[in-house]
Amino acid sequence: MKEAIYSTPSLKEARKRSKNKVETINAELIIPDRLSLFANGKKYFIRTYGCQANVVDSENIAGILEKIGFIKCDDPFTSDIVILNTCAVRENAEEKVFGEIGSLKRLKSLNENAIIALCGCMIQEPHIVEKIREKYHQTDLLFGTHNINRLPLLLDEVIFAHHRVIEVLSKEGEIIENLPVVRESNFKAFVNIMYGCDKFCTYCIVPYTRGKQRSRKIEDILKEVKELKEKNYQEVTLLGQNVNAYGKDLNDNLTFAVLLEEVAKLNIPRIRFTTSHPWDFQDEMFRVISQYKNIMPYIHLPLQSGSNAILKKMGRRYTKESYMDLVTRLKKIIPNVSLSTDIIVGFPNETEEDFLDTLEVAKFCEYDSAFTFIYSPRVGTPAALMQDDVTRSEKNKRFNRLVETLEISISKKAKEYVGKTVDVLVDGFSKKGKDMLSGYTEGNKLVNFQGNASLIGKIIPVKIIDSHTYSLIGEVSDEYKY
Ligand code: 5AD
Ligand code: SF4
Repeated sequence: MKEAIYSTPSLKEARKRSKNKVETINAELIIPDRLSLFANGKKYFIRTYGCQANVVDSENIAGILEKIGFIKCDDPFTSDIVILNTCAVRENAEEKVFGEIGSLKRLKSLNENAIIALCGCMIQEPHIVEKIREKYHQTDLLFGTHNINRLPLLLDEVIFAHHRVIEVLSKEGEIIENLPVVRESNFKAFVNIMYGCDKFCTYCIVPYTRGKQRSRKIEDILKEVKELKEKNYQEVTLLGQNVNAYGKDLNDNLTFAVLLEEVAKLNIPRIRFTTSHPWDFQDEMFRVISQYKNIMPYIHLPLQSGSNAILKKMGRRYTKESYMDLVTRLKKIIPNVSLSTDIIVGFPNETEEDFLDTLEVAKFCEYDSAFTFIYSPRVGTPAALMQDDVTRSEKNKRFNRLVETLEISISKKAKEYVGKTVDVLVDGFSKKGKDMLSGYTEGNKLVNFQGNASLIGKIIPVKIIDSHTYSLIGEVSDEYKY
């Protein structure tokens, strides 16, 4: 098959961390006239896998495509361009993507001129790009996480030169401000405060797929939040792989606590942030979170493992004891705090004792919610080279035991809501049925309740009348007239 390969990814290059200062530049999109003419009346579809960083990238990709002139479509099979924004964090995420690329063969039989493009973290992995080149000839364009701004020129070449184009950079470039954006919601927004990650936890592919840590300038972040406030957004979530390390690469004494306080002062009704690495959590954060009512009392604090031996092998740089101490202080200083976590079971050579330590910490922390994963080896990471004597069936058993343990506190925390009236930001119609809405409490608990479309996008008081493990049932408070 004819293809133009400008660059393919290299994990060796991606692992490097240069000391050079990262510049911030303004996005200057080059959109060829013939591409805009071509786009007229044509439709695009984007499927996003993985984390919120990908959600924001997809919002920028949508912004770029609409600037070119394409129109959004909800059905891949009637679209002229289909983009899959992929995730590499675990193997099952990758399998889903390969399944979808397979099913998109049908799109080519319906419309031979349709374009299938792949981007995101998987495309930053050399072995994946090789596999796609060899086996998935229906794909027309592969680009990575560092060159989204090049999309118009890459698309132009695919369309007018009629060959496959591959451009994946292994080295992150400048921070690009002011890319066009079409957000998924008009009342909730994700705002990147930094890109990349320098932690190199031994199981994790992210530092390779998203490059070195680069903090955005505080004035650019505040400008974006101000604009959202002016557009009446009700909630912003500040995003980074490890928000607590914000500013460490800027050399101007900026910390995440300072940024969070400045954002809080802008008076957006709800502010969230994710993800906090337990190692970098500063004491100043306690004061800021408890002082500002618009900073939601919800902290996602990945534990990953409760065993000191495994934490060490993971390169997490905290201990079971220091993690539990942090949780104790958080609960004391922010009494209504909701806690969630990420836990991996079955890291190479995890023993029953290691796993029991994880269960002990899980019980101690009484999480409100949790994301649990079975360890998945990632090509190129140090952990993938470790011998592993734990069988898959043992890992599955531990996974189920962990979920059972976590669900005890999750249900207990959910029950504590019953009888209380809480503020809920209404997201939209619920999957539960007609006239049912859903939204989230300040502590990020899902609530289903009856109501009409006029409530969507508002923060309203809801009385909680029943609870399940993962959701609450409520009714709009009598005091609220609508
Ligand atoms: N295997 C399983 N889970 C992983 N995570 C990251 N890498 C892996 C891996 N190789 C989990 C971590 C992280 C979350 C986003 O995904 O728990 O916090
Ligand atoms: Fe991965 Fe660790 Fe960075 Fe999180 S902090 S993205 S788990 S390397």
